[in-house]
Amino acid sequence: MIGRLNHVAIAVPDLEAASAQYRDTLGANVGAPQDEPDHGVTVVFIELPNTKIELLYPLGENSPIKSFLEKNPSGGIHHICYEVEDIKAAAEQLRNQGARVLGSGEPKIGAHGKPVIFLHPKDFTGTLVELEQV
Ligand code: CO
Repeated sequence: MIGRLNHVAIAVPDLEAASAQYRDTLGANVGAPQDEPDHGVTVVFIELPNTKIELLYPLGENSPIKSFLEKNPSGGIHHICYEVEDIKAAAEQLRNQGARVLGSGEPKIGAHGKPVIFLHPKDFTGTLVELEQV
């Protein structure tokens, strides 16, 4: 069902410092910060030859990243995203196998303008998994 690794998302307490580290210390191709009010995050996309890294920083009071950073003050891997061809079929198949799809269970439009779902970390070895239709 899953295809390529689309991105790894890392929550960071200081977006500017993290961007500078990836750009200057690691020599990566780092984009400009983008506000994603629908998702409660400001995102910096980092293009690598085989995947992307997304730095996530809280935007607004109800940001899903806020409590994560309270528990992980120096930041940490927040989720990984795999590509799927058909998000609705993937969601149904996973539900039938007992996995929990977060939120309403219906795909939402993600940070790349494509439909995504999130799977409960307790069902996937402690890792929040995002699936994105490509
Ligand atoms: Co993501």
